[in-house]
Amino acid sequence: MLSREENELLTRVGPEAPMGRMLRRYWIPALQSAAVVADGAPQRVRLLGEDLVAFRDSNGRVGLLDENCPHRGASLVLARNEACGLRCLYHGWKIDVDGRVLETPPEPDELNFRDRVRATAYPTYESGGFVWAYLGPPGTEPPRVHFEFATLPETHRMIATVQSECNFIQNLEGVIDSAHSNYLHSNAIKPAAGMEATVFSENRKFDLDRPSNDGKPRIEVQDTPYGFRYAGIRVPTRDPETTKYVRVTLFVAPFYGIVAAPYGIGFLQMFVPMDDEHTMFHYVRYTFDEPIDDDARTRHHAWGGTRMGIDLDERYRKTRTRATNWLQDRAAMGRGESYSGITGVNNEDFAVQESMGPIYDRSKEHLGTSDVAVIRMRRLMLDSVRRFTTDGRPPLGLGEPVRYEKLRAEERTIPIDAPWQIIGAFAGEPTEPEPARPG
Ligand code: FES
Ligand SMILES: [Fe+2]
Repeated sequence: MLSREENELLTRVGPEAPMGRMLRRYWIPALQSAAVVADGAPQRVRLLGEDLVAFRDSNGRVGLLDENCPHRGASLVLARNEACGLRCLYHGWKIDVDGRVLETPPEPDELNFRDRVRATAYPTYESGGFVWAYLGPPGTEPPRVHFEFATLPETHRMIATVQSECNFIQNLEGVIDSAHSNYLHSNAIKPAAGMEATVFSENRKFDLDRPSNDGKPRIEVQDTPYGFRYAGIRVPTRDPETTKYVRVTLFVAPFYGIVAAPYGIGFLQMFVPMDDEHTMFHYVRYTFDEPIDDDARTRHHAWGGTRMGIDLDERYRKTRTRATNWLQDRAAMGRGESYSGITGVNNEDFAVQESMGPIYDRSKEHLGTSDVAVIRMRRLMLDSVRRFTTDGRPPLGLGEPVRYEKLRAEERTIPIDAPWQIIGAFAGEPTEPEPARPG
């Protein structure tokens, strides 16, 4: 449970909000690189409560500007993208990726408008099929972020993007909540109901015997420089007397989750706040050592519920929303064909997360022992925003170097008395339990 004040502090992301100011100190994945082509249509981007426009210029550079033209505010999403700049439709002002005003055709040259006006432009770089942007004060950028998937060939990854109609913390809480998969996703993880779809190739057939059916995982958390990792520890199906089944999940500040997937597959989820009540969700599935073929991509989008034109419109908005009751199929539930009545694993997550309302009032909740990782994330983020706001201390994950490209989750069955911390310590995390905290 959080107080109302803490809930506000945790969830508000606009330019004046403490969390919004802190989030602006991180590089943020703003959109997929493929969405902007050289001299092609500019794209509307909403990020941390700001309306922006992204475009790729004739030289391939990506610009991220305030959506409103610096002259009198016409939207630059309408602008012409020509010869290394956006030309506003209204009076023809032309602006480049750095926000420089190159031309102001109706104005007399001697007034030098060009030199006196500058559009708001945020720095960008590209990594792993995304355009990353920095919305913080100029000159305060931290080192660039390159996750593991960005170090692999493009053929080894697939990206899905979905707009969610709620605050980013609600979405983020879903990925560090190991207990829900036994319930919400019980349908999707049954072999008969689509497990096949997660298979990337014949070499990666899942072992269809579940390693554990234990619906009461014990959750243990280990703090790390980037956030924390935690273990969901379950009684395994085989050898329950001598072994334990452990799934390690990572929370990477400020809004990433890395989830364990078997057989050489990586799985990163990013919950990018568009504003207080909307989140752009990007998830990346990647294989460490072989390309993902087209069939596997198609199957996987069907399994997740992220098919463009079917599950999503061209701006990644879902057909399943509160207004359509997430298209829940009560008849399928009645026939025993579906636990949730909702098709697509991601849709199941979005349905329950959005059903809480755009920003859930956490002063009303009742947390249990399975919510330990959720509690830890909130505590770390609140501590971070308070320290950042009052003492100017670096936000969580920015105080010391993080080897993002090494971060990986893992699941394994290990001897019952081995420390779970030995699993998934790819980025040099301690492999022994931390000494108990006082109190
Ligand atoms: S509003 Fe853009 S040029 Fe006038
Ligand atoms: Fe989920």
